[in-house]
Amino acid sequence: MEDVDGARSFDATGESYDSFMGRYSKPLAECFADAAGVRPGQSALDVGCGPGALTGILTARLGSGSVAACDPSPAFAEACRSRYTGVDVRSGRAENLPFETDRFDQVLAQLVMHFVSDPAAAIEEFVRVARPGGTIGACVWDFDHGMEMLRRFWDAALAIDPAAPDEARTMKFGREGELVDLFEKAGLRHPKETTLRVVSTYGDFDELWSGLCAGIGPAGTYCVSLSAPMRNLLRSRLFHDLGQPTAAFSLSAVARCAVATAP
Ligand SMILES: C[S@@+](CC[C@H](N)C(=O)[O-])C[C@H]1O[C@@H](n2cnc3c(N)ncnc32)[C@H](O)[C@@H]1O
Repeated sequence: MEDVDGARSFDATGESYDSFMGRYSKPLAECFADAAGVRPGQSALDVGCGPGALTGILTARLGSGSVAACDPSPAFAEACRSRYTGVDVRSGRAENLPFETDRFDQVLAQLVMHFVSDPAAAIEEFVRVARPGGTIGACVWDFDHGMEMLRRFWDAALAIDPAAPDEARTMKFGREGELVDLFEKAGLRHPKETTLRVVSTYGDFDELWSGLCAGIGPAGTYCVSLSAPMRNLLRSRLFHDLGQPTAAFSLSAVARCAVATAP
């Protein structure tokens, strides 16, 4: 694992990521690719690919030979590589992309910018690897009110532990205008913000809980750090807050998305 703060909690299998977050990021990737205007004939880079939610959509639209991806988590890079044969998947971070200058028509980062320690350096790198006039896009969960699963989790956590590290307090770019602001400061042209919405359905509460117990991302890391009695308390609180579901239930998620043109 590279020494990247945000990547330390992403040392997991593709399957466990999917049960926690991939179930949202796969449908999100369809909307994000539409918002960025991905179309046949283009080449694309998926920055912070994880196990490949967006890589899969790009491969389906562009063909594996036109898609590249990178992630600082070796486990995720390997999962993406094995899922999408023929895609050029490298180990690397947004701030120092392991790709050539002026190479891609599309440089996209889905659910990544809030984990990047130097966002301005990352955008500089996006511009460097994009061909002039290419598209640069990023999307992140709206942490104010848009990502129900994480919001419900942190509300339950704060109820039993007021010091719980609610990621909405620290995560960047999840509020309206913040991504566009970052793009404008980096000199990108015509930045445009849109809102992306997805829904995920759980067969039962245990399906949601087991995803959280996989220890992925800030929520999962906090969940598995608790003592068994505290974790049980959190489980009961979350179950209660969700209305004690005894059958399938759905949670929605909203992402802020910005797309712009490389100079
Ligand atoms: C929430 S996951 C999103 C994964 C994937 N893009 C998706 O939509 O499912 C965040 C990803 O960002 C990666 N990451 C963390 N810090 C990064 C950095 N500095 N540069 C690039 N990726 C980073 C993590 O390893 C992880 O795969």
